[in-house]
Amino acid sequence: MQNTVVQPLRNKFKNSLLQVPLRFKIMGLALGLVAISGTVTIYRVHDILVSNMKTILKEESVSVARELASHSKDYILINDLYGLTRLLKDIDNNRPEVRYAFVVDSHYEVLAHTFEDGFPLKLLTGEDRLNFQERTTPLPTNEGIVWDTFYPILEGGNGGVRVGITETVMQRQITVFLRSLLLHTFAVMVIALILSVLLTFIIVNPVKKLLGATRSIRRGHYDCIVDTFPQDEVGDLIEAFNAMLRQLQQADIDRQEKEQIRKEFLQRIISIQEQERKKVSRELHDQTGQALASIMVRLNVLDKKNKSGLSEDIAALKKSLIEEMEAIHNLALELRPSVLDDMGLVPALELSLNQFRERHGLHVEFVAIGMEKERADHCVETCVYRIIQESLTNIVKHADAGTVKILLEWRQEMIRCVIEDDGKGFDPDQVPRDRLGLYGMEERACLCGGRFNVDSDSGQGTMISFTIPAKGIIECHE
Ligand SMILES: Nc1ncnc2c1ncn2[C@@H]1O[C@H](COP(=O)(O)OP(=O)(O)O)[C@@H](O)[C@H]1O
Ligand SMILES: [Mg+2]
Repeated sequence: MQNTVVQPLRNKFKNSLLQVPLRFKIMGLALGLVAISGTVTIYRVHDILVSNMKTILKEESVSVARELASHSKDYILINDLYGLTRLLKDIDNNRPEVRYAFVVDSHYEVLAHTFEDGFPLKLLTGEDRLNFQERTTPLPTNEGIVWDTFYPILEGGNGGVRVGITETVMQRQITVFLRSLLLHTFAVMVIALILSVLLTFIIVNPVKKLLGATRSIRRGHYDCIVDTFPQDEVGDLIEAFNAMLRQLQQADIDRQEKEQIRKEFLQRIISIQEQERKKVSRELHDQTGQALASIMVRLNVLDKKNKSGLSEDIAALKKSLIEEMEAIHNLALELRPSVLDDMGLVPALELSLNQFRERHGLHVEFVAIGMEKERADHCVETCVYRIIQESLTNIVKHADAGTVKILLEWRQEMIRCVIEDDGKGFDPDQVPRDRLGLYGMEERACLCGGRFNVDSDSGQGTMISFTIPAKGIIECHE
């Protein structure tokens, strides 16, 4: 039970202590140490001084009384009360700590005293009034403790002397002394504060710089070498940090160079692939298509000349020839429609989408906004065309969709495209690494300086969107 209450409290205290900034910890430590040692010293000094003071005052009380007793016996013997009073007054005037002094005769009658306003009779009361032995007692008065000593004159036969030594004077001196000690403690605290601020600056400043540098590294900026001001362990840490930073800078330069080489390589591969496709598509269209067309013409001529009952065979031959010509036409279109180069992106997409609708029976809506004014760079057009083509292939292969919507928009020198289907969707984070379709689309968009995004979830359909600068970002090799 106790543990369940104490443990969380202890943890809370520990956590809040750990959260205190370093500079406050250092300042708190310095000030705390000075304050504690100052307080302890003042208390101890006060105790010692007070106990010493009591002993000293007690001894002084006895010594003054003894001295007075020895001097006053002559005055008593010749009954010179005026001289006796002068003797007492002298002592009273010369020693500020003497509060009073008076002489009594053998009947305890006051012969002389130092009181200006009359003798306070209270001083003569008390049980030991007629006791003529030497004694010293602390008398509590409204002015504080007074050390009162009775000292007999000539063994008590001629009365005695009473002297009161007050603590006030010495107490005042002790207070002045302790006040100056307190002042010194404050002065040391101020010095400790200044030193700890300096120390904090020396320790915390480089740590802050290190923190700032670490943050900029996290943002991908490596040009943040920290200057080594202290030569101590923090300085060593900064040296090590800077060495690591230089390595990171070099590694980043190497990575950027490799990335650049990879990009250029990929661009070349893509453009060679496009050129190959263009060539094969043209050959299929121009040569194979032309050859098949001339065979068709010859078959038509043969059919007209034919009188030997071969019409059916010729008709079957013409039918399969037409099918073959169509297949070659579609293949050429799929490889790379010449209309993409000749007339641009929108006509090429419309052609390809018509073919797609026919072949797969899907409902496809295509909207192009602002595309008619001018044409984008060749490779940008190819890039957009290929991403849409790959998206459509995916929809057929995986989506099980009924409707596909495609939006193509030219806005502020950027081409934005959204391809949306109402199919079964998927989790983009779970796509296996060996699948290259989506990865290829993203790579193409990035190579053209654009951004690519897939938004999909199970049962929610899929939305692929990308934005690419229409012109001048990359060098086209097509
Ligand atoms: N439109 C889509 N609808 C549903 N699933 C999709 C869609 N597009 C992609 N996928 C999922 O993403 C995976 C990766 O696609 P992709 O990278 O093109 O590779 P591949 O088509 O070769 O499988 C596919 O296997 C499929 O599970
Ligand atoms: Mg695919």
